[in-house]
Amino acid sequence: MLKFTFTQATEILFGKGQMDHVGTAAKKRGANKVLIVYGSDRIKTSGLFDKVTASLKAEGLDYAETSGIEPNPRLTSVKKGIEVAIKEKCDYILAIGGGSVIDAAKAMALGAKYDGDVWDFFLRKAAPQEALPLASILTLAATGSEMNGGTVVTNWETNDKLPFVSPMLIPQFSILDPENTYTVNEWQTASGTADIMSHILEQYFSPIDGTYVQDRMCDAMLKTAMYYGPIAIKAPNNYEARANLMWTGTLALNGLLSTGRYGDWAVHMIEHAISAIYDVTHGAGLALITPYWMEYTMTEQNVDKYYDFAINVMGVPANGDKLLAAKEGITKLRAFFKAMGLPTKLSDFDIDDSRIEEMAEKATAFGMIGQFRKLEKDDVLEIFKLMV
Ligand code: NZQ
Ligand code: ZN
Repeated sequence: MLKFTFTQATEILFGKGQMDHVGTAAKKRGANKVLIVYGSDRIKTSGLFDKVTASLKAEGLDYAETSGIEPNPRLTSVKKGIEVAIKEKCDYILAIGGGSVIDAAKAMALGAKYDGDVWDFFLRKAAPQEALPLASILTLAATGSEMNGGTVVTNWETNDKLPFVSPMLIPQFSILDPENTYTVNEWQTASGTADIMSHILEQYFSPIDGTYVQDRMCDAMLKTAMYYGPIAIKAPNNYEARANLMWTGTLALNGLLSTGRYGDWAVHMIEHAISAIYDVTHGAGLALITPYWMEYTMTEQNVDKYYDFAINVMGVPANGDKLLAAKEGITKLRAFFKAMGLPTKLSDFDIDDSRIEEMAEKATAFGMIGQFRKLEKDDVLEIFKLMV
């Protein structure tokens, strides 16, 4: 285990009734005028928007709004929001939605305090000096954006989907009421579950040894996601299932599992390359790639990690042949995703092999990807060929 410093700055308000505290939580942190960021009109028809604005008004806070944030949020929507934030003199940002809305809000927080093009940060051409403070009300269990400093934005002019991470973008508080996720449909619930699992696996497959406690936390979180994901699909109003999924999603990517080590993240880089061209649902893309990534990267030398995963998480009986058991674990993982309605081939997304070279190039645009097993462009291309 490597040495580390672990701080977590986000206050989590979890459970029923916590929505009522959004006004006080924002006011306590010095907000005067809040920019509310959201996607479709869903939050207006459901009454969520009114609840939030009533709570803000009760504390004497003013607000402006920017909406229409797409899944895989686009740079154009971010820039629109930045203009509203500046014109309306907002000093605080509140995202209401899933990872896309929260990520877009984070990029707006950066852009509102920067004279240049906000895309500069994603291209690593500039480092931010300041950002507007922000908070979130999460409505979809998946990304962990509600408790981390990451944002991922897509530029459709260049077909690039790029991440940017800064401590300045960690939400000051996030409200997690599982009831707000009851309306998430089967596809998004399954994709969210796969995203949560992928975040755990990306950190579990670390090149750093001696992280027993982190690995066992990974086992527990993976089992939780695999237990409650299918329940939430069948019974969307099951509070216990939604609550466990939501908290697992947050814990999976708030830095805890990466303490004392660093993760792999090749699967995410490959998914971002697919999304940048075909706009696929993030978690569904990860469900497709993960088993192929495992098959491609597993060797006799590194099999222990795959074997432990197969035994501890996938319930494969321990036997003498580690490679065989590990392969069975991967087969079971693929079957689990398939049973939730997620893709197992690129063709399930209606994607053929015509642009796989370009996607492999995009995934490795900044150099080799992966840490557990480093991958060059040609390796990524081989993985794409397996997925066709
Ligand atoms: O527009 P709205 O109404 O919000 O609709 C959304 C959207 O259509 C809908 N939805 C959200 N909550 C709902 C709901 N529908 C019914 N009831 C609710 N309660 O679901 C659709 C998908 O939402 P989206 O926000 O796109 O999903 P998700 O949370 O999976 O976010 C995906 C984005 O996050 C990025 C992904 O790349 C992708 O762009 N990621 C962000 C990360 C981070 N910041 O740390 C890490 C992740 O690995 C990921 O890359
Ligand atoms: Zn993800």
